Order: sequence, then C-alpha cells, then structure tokens
Amino acid sequence: MIVCSCHAISDRALREAAAAGLSHHEVVAVTGAGTDCGCCSETVAEIVAESHGPCRADPCLGCPRRGGA
Ligand code: FES
Repeated sequence: MIVCSCHAISDRALREAAAAGLSHHEVVAVTGAGTDCGCCSETVAEIVAESHGPCRADPCLGCPRRGGA
C-alpha cells in the first residue's frame, strides 16, 4: 500500500528501511516520505515505530514506544 503519494513510498519500503536499522529520521531522509506535503508524516512515524518494536529506554516516560520491563 502506498503511504506517501508524493514520493510513491509503500508501507513495505518503510518497514524494510526500519528493519534494516534506520532511525525514523534516517528512514525519512532515505525514502523522502513525509518531506513534501507532510500528509503522511504521522503514518510514516507509526509504521517506523511499529517496525522498531517497543523501546526499553528508561527516561522516555509517556513515549508511545515505551515497552515493558
Ligand atoms: S503524501 Fe507524503 S509527503 Fe505528501
């Protein structure tokens, strides 16, 4: 499914980039997703966060990626 219509970037491409270890910022920089009209930015962030799985960093209270202990 195309997530970013401005750059024709699919959810699969975003997931593959995130799975390769790229940060959200890096995924955006490499794919261009979210860098034009910005309509897809929230969805791009959600897909990348899902692909990275839960974060276990301690100081990020309130972060939607915060995982369990
Ligand atoms: S739809 Fe992604 S930048 Fe426009």
